[in-house]
Amino acid sequence: MASSLWGGRFEKEMDDIVKKYNASIGFDQRMYNEDIDGSIAHVTMLGEQDIISEEEKKVIVEGLEEIRADIKSGKIVFNVDDEDIHMGVESRLIQRIGDVGKKLHTARSRNDQCQVDTKLYVRKEIEEILECLCYLESVILEKAEQYADKIIPGFTHLQHAQPITLGFVFMAYFQMFKRDITRLKDAHERMNYCPLGSCALAGTTLPTNRHRTAELLGFKAPTENAMDSVGDRDYSLEFLSAASISMMHLSRWAEEFVWWNTSEFSYIAIDDSFCTGSSIMPQKKNPDMAELLRGKPGRVYGDLVQLLTVMKGTTSSFNKDYQEDKEAVYDAADTWKASITIFAKMLKNTEFRMDQIGKQMDKGFLNATDIAEHFAKQGIPFREAHSIVGRMVKACENNNCDFEDLTDEQLREIDNRVTKETLGDISIPACVDARVSYGGTAPSEVRRQIAKEKEWMDSL
Ligand code: ARG
Repeated sequence: MASSLWGGRFEKEMDDIVKKYNASIGFDQRMYNEDIDGSIAHVTMLGEQDIISEEEKKVIVEGLEEIRADIKSGKIVFNVDDEDIHMGVESRLIQRIGDVGKKLHTARSRNDQCQVDTKLYVRKEIEEILECLCYLESVILEKAEQYADKIIPGFTHLQHAQPITLGFVFMAYFQMFKRDITRLKDAHERMNYCPLGSCALAGTTLPTNRHRTAELLGFKAPTENAMDSVGDRDYSLEFLSAASISMMHLSRWAEEFVWWNTSEFSYIAIDDSFCTGSSIMPQKKNPDMAELLRGKPGRVYGDLVQLLTVMKGTTSSFNKDYQEDKEAVYDAADTWKASITIFAKMLKNTEFRMDQIGKQMDKGFLNATDIAEHFAKQGIPFREAHSIVGRMVKACENNNCDFEDLTDEQLREIDNRVTKETLGDISIPACVDARVSYGGTAPSEVRRQIAKEKEWMDSL
């Protein structure tokens, strides 16, 4: 008989390299708290159902709490013989409290146990990440208020497009992270069902109460089908998808930070504490945090693709392949949390250089669309207005001047309906103030958005 907890039918020990290859203790010990919480809920239920005695339950719970304390203090150090966190805890419990410890694994399997641990872990990470995202949103709202009426060039195709407010830019990112928040909340809602007691794949003949363990662990209810319970990794995949999308959002803004921070743009000055220097070029101050934020999605996408690939083509119920689910989740959670926090702090500590931004406002005919809309309001069909302004741009380029410099004659030559007077107020602030359509860039609209989203934040 081999020495493992499952060794009854084995005549030989595992080969050493097999042991190492098979073990997950190296990483899943991260979930020792979740594993012990799951076990305590399980024995509490076993006691209530008279599957074990009240006294046995008490001894097991005390033993588990001692083990928790010893893991925390570093007194217990796991090794490859523990195989995984479930057996690591259980075998130490048996060593510590004797035969009664052997009752812990009644009416459960590692197949449901690893699901309980990972679900509790993902649920905890979701809660922490929601907090990080809410902090980021609060920083964004603060900045959006501060810059609600500050004007900057808006780009499409990285070309000057239309004047917009800086507060409007902040609120655009607010919406992306808001979707990240609601996406995580949806995932939380869908995953919050307890697999404990599904056992290997088919439930148990013992008179368990799965509703009770679900309740004790804060789940909404037990999962409905034991076989699906041990084979489902959708919750981790949803977590990784949400992480990937959110990291993509962060990387997009990080990229804007990188080019806003170039000496050519100089829209922002990132605080020294978020930059690094060069080992050879003494003058350098590089936006490394923004660049790392741009690069980090690579590993998180990798985590998602890894687990999707692990799951692909596996048969229903449990397969050992699924042991490969955890490191992807841990890595994505760590990376995501750190990235949101760094980004929020960097944003808080970035100076927006309105003096530099202001210098860019007269480039690129930012008010061209506003003039065309002005003509449209005077009854000129928009397609014609578009063409008139296009020809005005050409005339300005040929004469190296701005719209305001075109004479009545030049304008009449372009289209006889147009004079300097019909141009109206085409100053940049007037153009921005007038973009009051719902969701538009006008300061009044940005302030409406801020007020609405503040209310939403309060409702969370
Ligand atoms: N260490 C495994 C995991 O993390 C436990 C699953 C049960 N293993 C088994 N051979 N039934 O997924």
